[in-house]
Amino acid sequence: MFLIQSTLNMEASSRFLNQSLIERHRDSLNKVEGPANKDDLFESITHNLKKNKASVVSHYYVDPLIQEITEKTGGFVGDSLEMAKFGSRCESENLIVCGVKFMAETAKILSPEKSIFVPTLESTCSLDLGCPADELKELKNKHPERELVVYANTSAEVKAMSDWVVTSSIAKEIIEDLHFEGKKILWAPDKYLGSYLQKETGADMILWDSACVVHEEFKSNGIKDLKALHPDAGVLVHPESPPEVIEMADAVGSTSHLIKASRELDFDKFIVATDKSIFYKMSQFSPNKEFFEAPTGGVGSSCKSCAHCPWMGLNSLYNLDKCVLELNNEIQLDESLIKSAKEPLDKMIQFNA
Ligand code: 13P
Ligand code: SF4
Repeated sequence: MFLIQSTLNMEASSRFLNQSLIERHRDSLNKVEGPANKDDLFESITHNLKKNKASVVSHYYVDPLIQEITEKTGGFVGDSLEMAKFGSRCESENLIVCGVKFMAETAKILSPEKSIFVPTLESTCSLDLGCPADELKELKNKHPERELVVYANTSAEVKAMSDWVVTSSIAKEIIEDLHFEGKKILWAPDKYLGSYLQKETGADMILWDSACVVHEEFKSNGIKDLKALHPDAGVLVHPESPPEVIEMADAVGSTSHLIKASRELDFDKFIVATDKSIFYKMSQFSPNKEFFEAPTGGVGSSCKSCAHCPWMGLNSLYNLDKCVLELNNEIQLDESLIKSAKEPLDKMIQFNA
């Protein structure tokens, strides 16, 4: 296994995850806490969704209130693969995607006839930012014999140049299959997910060097300390986390896999190494179980993300309400880009069918 050094990776964290972004995301969360606001906003969103023939699809990492209104209005909450599939099968001509930009772009690529909107166009992802298409193209050109497999957390341009797109819920099966066929792999952008897949499948993989700013902060020592306080707790880990954290897991997998594990594993308590907004769903399914955030590197003051994705956090009931009313922030992608990016995405959906 080789790791490709990308200076952009380090820069991405500090350049894009700046203090003002974090503060804005915290402000937006605070604003939706008042119960009076919540009722008014729920009513307005419900009314305008009907009026504008629109549906909402949300990721498990967005504010629990957004997850609640999504379900109440007949929309869908899921992991990134399930969101993509819902986008194609839902009948509404207008789809509002609450998550991050790559999720909305994926919806547009898979359903180009639909109009896709987002509550904020600022909501990106450190993995997407850490993997510019031109840099990846250079690397791809150096390894023409390898299959380029990219994580869904990338731009439409990166998807368009790849052989396969995968999400964390299907990555292992696809890499296993390629390895079985004797193919060598060039993987981008998440180095931790890549090294996990390499270890699990034994595939020959060259890894791009980028990481998720949320998951890379989870610390095995912190989990050990928390386990000492709750020795009977199970550990759930998203594979974007560092290897020593993954090693401690009772279950490793996508967000939907972790929710399933929280329902099915025989523990009454869980330490969870992923975005804490997922607790909303976990507690809904298992109201009598206890969920603890896995400790992050910063222990309070210096942690950058504190187990919550700052970009997911830019979605609020306020900007969702505005988006549903005005149908603003539409995702626009070039037709030829859609055509090229659709091929590897379709392959993933068919593989999963
Ligand atoms: P899932 O595909 O597991 O929903 O994860 C998406 C993501 O962005 C994790 O950080
Ligand atoms: Fe990207 Fe990490 Fe946020 Fe997921 S949690 S969208 S990988 S920055």
